[in-house]
This record gives sequence, C-alpha cells and structure tokens, in this order.
Amino acid sequence: MLLSITDLHIQFEAEGHITRAVEGVSLSVDRGQVLGLVGESGCGKTATAMSVPRLLPSPPARITRGRALFDGQDLLSLPLPELRRLRGARLGVVFQDPMSSLSPLHRIGRQLEETLLLHRQISAAAARALALDWLGRVGIPDPAARALAYPHELSGGMQQRVMIAIGLILEPDLVIADEPTTALDVTIQAQVLNLMRRLHRKNSGLLLITHDMGVVSQMATHIAVMYAGQIVEQAPAAEFFARPLHPYSSALLAAIPSASTRGQRLKAIPGQVPAAGQFPGGCRFHDRCPVARPACAHNAPELTPCGSRLVRCPYATGDTPA
Ligand SMILES: Nc1ncnc2c1ncn2[C@@H]1O[C@H](COP(=O)(O)OP(=O)(O)OP(=O)(O)O)[C@@H](O)[C@H]1O
Ligand SMILES: [Mg+2]
Repeated sequence: MLLSITDLHIQFEAEGHITRAVEGVSLSVDRGQVLGLVGESGCGKTATAMSVPRLLPSPPARITRGRALFDGQDLLSLPLPELRRLRGARLGVVFQDPMSSLSPLHRIGRQLEETLLLHRQISAAAARALALDWLGRVGIPDPAARALAYPHELSGGMQQRVMIAIGLILEPDLVIADEPTTALDVTIQAQVLNLMRRLHRKNSGLLLITHDMGVVSQMATHIAVMYAGQIVEQAPAAEFFARPLHPYSSALLAAIPSASTRGQRLKAIPGQVPAAGQFPGGCRFHDRCPVARPACAHNAPELTPCGSRLVRCPYATGDTPA
C-alpha cells in the first residue's frame, strides 16, 4: 500500500481551547488509485490530508494519535530533513489557492527550476528545459515567454496550472490535491481536472479532496466520505455511485440535482454539520439522519466491513430515502 493512514487524531488548540477536528480516521491509497475524499465543509478533509506531508500549521494543529505510512515509513514520526526530501520528490501537493503557495517574488519558470534543482542532480540548463516542458504540458501557451511572468501576471486558471506543474514535476508517487479547482470558474475547472486526470500516472496514487461530487464521480476509483471528523463510508467508486450505503452518503448524492453537477456545492442536506468538538453523542449524524432510530442517539457506531466497503451505520441498507 502506498499510503495508509491509521487511527489519525488531530486537534486544534487556541487560547487554551481544544477542538477535536479529526478522530480516528483510517484510509489508504494504493498505486493506480484515485481516492476521492468528500464531505461537507468543516468535516476535517484538509486537516486529514495535510497531516500527511505534515503541512498543518502547528500550533494550532496537533496530531495526537495515529500513523501515516508512506511506502511503509511513518511520515508522522519521520525526522523533518527526511520528510523534506520526500515532499515534492515522492509526495506532491497541489493546494487550493495558488496565490498563497506560489512565491509572489519569483518568476514562475524559476520556481519550477528551483523545485527540480532542490531534489535532482541536474544542470541548470536541464532544469530550465524541463521547466519549460512542464509549462507546456500543463497547457500554458508560449512557455518560454510565460516562464518569465510573476504569478500575479497570470489568470487564476494559469496560476493553478503552474501549481499543478510544481506538484507533479518530480513525478511523485503520491499526489495530494486539496480542492484543486474550487477557486476557478466552471469552464476552467473542467480543463484543469482533465489535465490532472491526464497527468495521473498509472503507477502513482492521488488523494483528491473536493466538495464536488461531479468531479469525484469522473475521477475517483475509490471514495471516502467524511462526516464530523470521521470516515462514515469507504467504497470502490462504481459501487458507491451505484448504491451509497451510509445515509449521509445517500444524502450527499441526493444533494446533486442532476447528472451535470460540476461546480455544484453540496448544500441541500437539512441541518448543519456540527462544529468541530460539538459533535452529538451516539451516531454523529443522527440528528440529521432521515432514518435515525432512537438507539442512534446513544450508540456510536463503528466503521464496519460490509462487502467491499466500510460503513459506519448498523442500519445502512442503501435503500434509505434521503
Ligand atoms: N487553523 C485552525 N484553527 C482552529 N481550528 C481549525 C483550524 N483549521 C481547521 N480547524 C477546525 O477543524 C475542522 C476541520 O477543518 P478542515 O479544514 O479540515 O475541514 P474541511 O473538511 O477541509 O472543510 P472545507 O471543505 O471547508 O475545506 C473545522 O471545523 C475547524 O473547526
Ligand atoms: Mg478543506
């Protein structure tokens, strides 16, 4: 297994107040797989994913338990210099907001070259050639001229392409992409996703976080659904979309109004995601669940194998009205 997260717990500490944002998350991504991590805002997707390259700001974030094995090595306890060598080279990250992660002070070509020179024993000329090659690959017209641009001189879509090039240029084994297209307008989103799909190598893994079930249905081979800091269902994508089992999964899918849903944010589920740390007792979804029984308010269900999936609901049948 390429990435295997087990029993991850993350809390945020601010002014003496502790918020338990992620509690007991386990998931895995193998070579060749695209794991779509979905769930409403605030459920802990970013915290989970960014804990892997240890890019959560700490403080306030603190990983209190769990492991993240990457090719057998626990990234959560790896000494920082070793982790830095892995980042980029074997572990690529594509962030949601290019302007917060591209350096505003350096030309984009230079930023790509630096990434290469930091991790590869190649000449400056070779780095430059490869940087231009990648600008072309991610669909940036006239790479030689654009390489001289500063990030603010590019459109949002072009900036995001540069981010993708930086995340992928070292051909990492695992790519983590957190909402890579949310900031873009709908037509550009489609182009950027197609690009990511095209560049996804058969022997690498992709952990793709998104609100957008349309995106996930097109790209993912596997799905993990998060709710209130926990995984509630994990399944092969085809089975999941044919018949989601957890009532929350059903509700998420029902929140998509039509087959053409790209850019659609999930918003049609009654009630709200509880704030982190204020999860209800029993099943965390019980107060919003259309099929909750009295016992659900008391019994916290475990994530349990169910055929080829894992489901956190003893009553999950997939036939639940959403
Ligand atoms: N820097 C922070 N300080 C304090 N609490 C935080 C911080 N970042 C996240 N949290 C808490 O952790 C919870 C999970 O946040 P996270 O960003 O992982 O959610 P998400 O699923 O990625 O949401 P979104 O879809 O909006 O990106 C949030 O509800 C929030 O309360
Ligand atoms: Mg997020």
